[in-house]
Amino acid sequence: MKKEIEGFEDVQLLVRSFYNKVLGDQTLGHYFAYVAAHHWNTHLEILDRFWSNVIFYTGDYDGNPLETHKILHHFKALNKPAFERWLHLFNETVNELFTGDKAELVKQRALSIATIMQIKILSDTELKL
Ligand code: HEM
Repeated sequence: MKKEIEGFEDVQLLVRSFYNKVLGDQTLGHYFAYVAAHHWNTHLEILDRFWSNVIFYTGDYDGNPLETHKILHHFKALNKPAFERWLHLFNETVNELFTGDKAELVKQRALSIATIMQIKILSDTELKL
């Protein structure tokens, strides 16, 4: 049954459910192949902290996602369909598991961050594709 996002364990469930989908996804899986082979648990733990900070203002995430994805783009080009797929799977995962204000907040924040990433990382031509 769907529940509110109430604490760290819920965030862990969201992160693991989402990245399980991503890893098996035709559009997105290949971006994560290296991370999956080398430091998958570390990746998940970073994402636990990232989303906990977004939802509960825990203050224990100190990374720079924009910079991380700029570097990723340099090695493996990101594009608009990949961001659209990422957002689709993220929203689908949240909707399958959770309901309530925090569930709405997390989807809204994912959309804002994905939009900023695309504006800052993709070229004007790629943005219009
Ligand atoms: C096309 C869409 C996306 C792809 C293919 C993608 C892929 C990746 C990959 C491969 C990493 C691991 C980098 C590494 O450890 O070397 C990563 C890290 C991360 N991603 Fe994404 N990502 C996408 C969109 C997003 C969006 C929209 C968000 C946030 C709303 C996000 C949040 C993060 C965060 C927080 C990290 C960890 C950064 C750190 O190391 O501090 N990603 N992503």
